[in-house]
Amino acid sequence: MNTTAQAIEALAQETRRFPPPSGFAAQANAQPGIYEEAERDYLAFWESWARKLEWMKPFTKVLEWNEPFARWFADGELNASVNCLDRHVRAGRGHRIAYYYEGEPGDRREITYGALLDDVCRFANGLRKLGVKKGDRVAIYMPMIPELPVAMLACARIGAAHSVIFGGFSPDSIVDRVNDSQCVALITADQGWRRGNKVPLKANCDVALAQTPSIRHCIVAKRVGDPVEMQAGRDLWWSDVVAGQSTTCEPEHMNAEDLLYLLYTSGTTAKPKGIKHTTGGYLTQVAATHKLVFDLKDSDVYWCAADIGWVTGHSYIVYGPLCNGATSLIYEGTPDFPDKGRLWSIVERYKVTILYTAPTAIRTFMKWGLEYVQKHDLSSLRLLGSVGEPINPEAWMWYRDHIGGGRCPVVDTWWQTETGSIMISPLPGITTTLPGSATKPLPGIGADILNDQGESVPLGGGGYIVLTRPWPSMLRGIWGNDERYREAYWSKFPHQYLAGDGCRRDEDGNYWFMGRIDDVMNVSGHRISTTEVESALVSHSKVAEAAVVGKLDDVTGQAIVCFVTLRGGETGSKALADELRAHVGQHLGKFTTPKYLTFTQELPKTRSGKIMRRLLRDIAEGRMLGDTTTLADSSVVKELQERAKLEAGKDEG
Ligand code: WTA
Repeated sequence: MNTTAQAIEALAQETRRFPPPSGFAAQANAQPGIYEEAERDYLAFWESWARKLEWMKPFTKVLEWNEPFARWFADGELNASVNCLDRHVRAGRGHRIAYYYEGEPGDRREITYGALLDDVCRFANGLRKLGVKKGDRVAIYMPMIPELPVAMLACARIGAAHSVIFGGFSPDSIVDRVNDSQCVALITADQGWRRGNKVPLKANCDVALAQTPSIRHCIVAKRVGDPVEMQAGRDLWWSDVVAGQSTTCEPEHMNAEDLLYLLYTSGTTAKPKGIKHTTGGYLTQVAATHKLVFDLKDSDVYWCAADIGWVTGHSYIVYGPLCNGATSLIYEGTPDFPDKGRLWSIVERYKVTILYTAPTAIRTFMKWGLEYVQKHDLSSLRLLGSVGEPINPEAWMWYRDHIGGGRCPVVDTWWQTETGSIMISPLPGITTTLPGSATKPLPGIGADILNDQGESVPLGGGGYIVLTRPWPSMLRGIWGNDERYREAYWSKFPHQYLAGDGCRRDEDGNYWFMGRIDDVMNVSGHRISTTEVESALVSHSKVAEAAVVGKLDDVTGQAIVCFVTLRGGETGSKALADELRAHVGQHLGKFTTPKYLTFTQELPKTRSGKIMRRLLRDIAEGRMLGDTTTLADSSVVKELQERAKLEAGKDEG
């Protein structure tokens, strides 16, 4: 019997199982035995992956753990750009394509490892000439153009840490981030393309630059070509920075623990946290996980459809794939431009074999309908990945059936900006997958589920996910704020990293993520995850997407409030609302029957695609009053969306 208290109750039962196809299993990079190998000696496991990198000075130490501060491979020296570029070129692979690039207007480029190295060296030399040096921080605010990874790698080459600021952010967000870490330069573009419109990147920088005294230079890549203001002495065109520069550039010898980059992520308070990632451990784990989880082969065309402005892009568009010499794809624009089949036309054209995207995108494709998918030949695909949010079982099934043609393993990968790389995920040639589960911790990773008392919850129960031992790509802290680092991640339970997500484990030890702990509702004493109710709604054939929040209730403590979008743009009715409420009750238990349900065309989301439940809670608490079932009424949510758009500039997480 389960005697330990649970921090969250687990309600749903999933019985579908998908063992790896035998052909896939036979050729997979990760073979059975890898878990045992890593468990025997997890330090030796990570050491063997680290030795695959190219070190300028080999390390002799693996881990120094001074909780909560880790130092991995701490006496070694290496350079990230050398590992991503030079060593492939030296190995005779300079003609291999690093990136296929497709711009939103349809322009295309093929960039080889050799050409990428030349571009990085020229830009790195240009930065050095401007006085940017080892130990500096450089802000990058760019669209998804090839100059973005070039800028990141050029910083890495000369030992300056980059701080990429997502191109959808507002000038205020630039100011906060630049000033927090005192960046010396800002790299941007004139404008970017988004759904056929021009995004005023340089103009946003101009507003920000009035309040960022540490910036000495603003470097502007030309993407769109309209005139922009250039302030003499401060602003320089990219083309002038690289003009006359050599295609060789001596890389800095970086200590394994030197800062590679900062990436800001929002916490519970308004001030974003500058998450610190260093060089040796980070590269080790992003390269290892990219090879194992995505089963990367030389013949693959790999596409991570995230934005480089998020950690997913840092780890799985830039550093992981380049370390592994992968051929990847970068697409600049939105999935619905010029039509809703854009992504599938890209898969078809480049014969993409591995696709990595987010549940929010998958649910959007479900909403748009199959016609856009079916127009294209997706038979090149052999593996599908998901990241960013819990994936509802029905979205997982849709992805597997309609994008993967029923033949591709689906890897649901759980991780965070803070973890740097994938932590909990299937290995596609080994793991039997279940729709909606990220399955098990990867080899070398220690995880557990704790209750409020800090006790491990037995299999079958839910609670707080924690990581029980250090890992190479873990954050090294928060820029300028060690106290906040301890407080946010290491104070709730002794010696355990608190991820902040709710999770349950089934009887077989598979992990089921249930959203952020703040998103747990307490209904009549039951702690219910918003994710489970959302998945129950999405399992109804008419529902495309759902967001669920709790609202104070006199009787039950909290009542369940649902916001629902329907497939194919349908509008709702009172009858359908009642049907959906009953549907949830049938799936998860009568006590979970939502009290309120409203239909809406869109849900408010952050720029990285996460549902903004905080905003929905506000509306549920404050204004969406009324009796039992709210009728089809999207005006409330429309208003919310306006606010969401305003807030999107501030909140990414
Ligand atoms: C959520 C993105 C469930 C989770 C890489 C985590 C997930 C937060 C998954 C980190 C997944 C990410 N299943 N939840 N497969 N992947 N999350 O920092 O709440 O943008 O804590 O990193 O996203 O978001 P971040």
